[in-house]
Amino acid sequence: MMPAGPASPLAQLIARFGTDLIVTERSALEAVSIDQHRRHRGVPLALALPRTVADVTSLLAFCNAARIGVVPQGGNTGYCAAATPDASGSQLVLSLRRLNKIRDVDVTNGSLIVESGCLLADVQKSAAAAGRFFPLSLGSEGSCTIGGNLSTNAGGLNVLRYGMMRELTLGLEVVLADGRVLSTLQALRKDNTGYDLKQLFVGAEGTLGIITAAALKLFPAPRAAGTAFVAVPSPAAAVALLARLRDGLGELINSFELLPNVALRLLGRHLPALRQPLTTDSPWFVLCEASSADANDPLTDKLGRLLEAAIDAGEVTDAALAQNERERREFWELRENVPEAQRRAGPSVKHDVSLPIGRIADFITEAGTWITAHVEGSVLVCYGHLGDGNLHFNISGANESVTIDAHADVMKRAVHDMVAARGGSFSAEHGIGQTKVGELARYASPLELELMRNVKKMFDPNGIMNPGKVLA
Ligand code: MLT
Ligand code: ZN
Repeated sequence: MMPAGPASPLAQLIARFGTDLIVTERSALEAVSIDQHRRHRGVPLALALPRTVADVTSLLAFCNAARIGVVPQGGNTGYCAAATPDASGSQLVLSLRRLNKIRDVDVTNGSLIVESGCLLADVQKSAAAAGRFFPLSLGSEGSCTIGGNLSTNAGGLNVLRYGMMRELTLGLEVVLADGRVLSTLQALRKDNTGYDLKQLFVGAEGTLGIITAAALKLFPAPRAAGTAFVAVPSPAAAVALLARLRDGLGELINSFELLPNVALRLLGRHLPALRQPLTTDSPWFVLCEASSADANDPLTDKLGRLLEAAIDAGEVTDAALAQNERERREFWELRENVPEAQRRAGPSVKHDVSLPIGRIADFITEAGTWITAHVEGSVLVCYGHLGDGNLHFNISGANESVTIDAHADVMKRAVHDMVAARGGSFSAEHGIGQTKVGELARYASPLELELMRNVKKMFDPNGIMNPGKVLA
């Protein structure tokens, strides 16, 4: 009888961890093999579903020894296909969905410890149940997970006041590529003891290790809000309004979102049930909000007075103030559904850029003019978090006969070059994943790339952590 050959990596994984942890059913693999835009499809070796941190430790130690690539996955809602395996059939997708407990809520310390597979919406609910507030808020909050939010350093709708995920993080528990666990879950607000290692894992998109839990900041619950939907004549006027509101309301301003007229028309066409607060025919709109922990703070009145002054100054042409929580929700639903309305309108080419706020208006003019002149049949849908200097500079086709994807490369180069010329970033909040690896190699300085490669080598010498993502 011939001696049996070495078992395949998959057979070894199943023999070591069993079929509860290593799943190979086609139906289970389908959902984790494709990114949410359905543009990148991979072929996973299998799907690992660890139940405990100890499981993650053993899985990574095993994969490190066997040189099996591991692709961590949260809610799979990212925009850059960072959680999608390659097509080789050799990478293990490791989903954190079973590690989803809230371990602790500490109101006195103003913090919460949560496992990375927990939905963002569940973290928000736990904070609210304790009379506190967790401010990260995104359109996908019902399906994205905290691990993904951390790994992509998610931004969203409240960054202006509370910062991105990085600023909301007090500590992490991370399983390194070799299976050792690095824990900084003490939830300290002050801790100047050498290098801040946890921050290397925030925004690393799973290329340095796997985040299994995090200590996050909680804030006082907002009990009063002033929310306005405002028509503005231009992005420059919107920037002037932002300065006026910050002067008048200080840190109480939590959101300042820019919307173009075309976004409202797309919403009207594809999501007609959503009520639009203004009928004014304006080229641009702003959704802004201030909030306070003081339930008696008359923020709607304060915002109203500031908007009247802005009308006198020519920065605003019309405004609607939310009179109750229902109207406030309606305003936000419009904003949160812009990506969905654009998706229903057909394919689009997306750019996620940031600029110094003072250079935004000039960028929109120049880049918008370039798109109109060079891409026939294009429709620019430029919206986003103006208060953070972050624009989603997306381009759709005017109708079905326009194949907008065919222009993606030339548009990307022109837009990103115009951003770089103004000292901006080609990826403000959506990360690098696999779709922007080439852009990072192009726009990061040689020194930055060298240091990033060294960091990667130190944490993951065998290159098993999310291979092919972030760095080429
Ligand atoms: C948003 O702000 O709505 C998203 O980050 C961008 C998008 O979906 O295009
Ligand atoms: Zn965004």
